[in-house]
Amino acid sequence: MIMKKIGLFYSFASKKTAKIAGIVHNAFSGEDVQLINVDEVKKENFLEFENLIIGVPTWFDGELPNYWDELLPALEEIDFSKKRIAIFGLGDQKGYAENFCDAIGIMVDFFEEKGAMIVGKIPLDGYTFEGSKAVRDGQFMGLPLDQENQARLTNGRIEQWVVNLKKEFV
Ligand SMILES: Cc1cc2nc3c(=O)[nH]c(=O)nc-3n(C[C@H](O)[C@H](O)[C@H](O)COP(=O)(O)O)c2cc1C
Repeated sequence: MIMKKIGLFYSFASKKTAKIAGIVHNAFSGEDVQLINVDEVKKENFLEFENLIIGVPTWFDGELPNYWDELLPALEEIDFSKKRIAIFGLGDQKGYAENFCDAIGIMVDFFEEKGAMIVGKIPLDGYTFEGSKAVRDGQFMGLPLDQENQARLTNGRIEQWVVNLKKEFV
């Protein structure tokens, strides 16, 4: 093992997101990745890790799912300043072209405000959409995955992302 343990936070009840989380977990084989269900999470769970991965689909035309929206206020008091956070998002670049994976951007804004270092940024190549809060300075601030339109690219995208995360995590 080369890194400190990693906390992978997502809703176990969110079907597609949970499947993707399993693929991310496998891609880290050999590392200590702990799966945390945000439906039952406690504030303390976030304090345990210096490396965090957040999985979040975008719902409601560019918004967080309810369970994340309701959880974030409880995290307001946490100091994330020594933490590295990587975010993967699920979205639909055809059906919601104006709001593709916006939830990644919403999460980035929240955790940056709390001092976190965002890792796992990727280029825009290979995606077609109109607008996304996940984009800043010409790149995605996390990893967008599109099971509706580009499911067969997902495994390769995750492989590449994890190769990079292994360099960016501590
Ligand atoms: C009602 C509804 C609204 C959605 N809104 C968005 C959106 O604004 N942007 C986006 O990229 N994807 C959007 N999606 C697509 C979902 O993010 C995508 O289907 C995702 O895989 C769902 O993951 P989950 O099953 O884990 O919740 C929406 C899907 C539904 C059903």
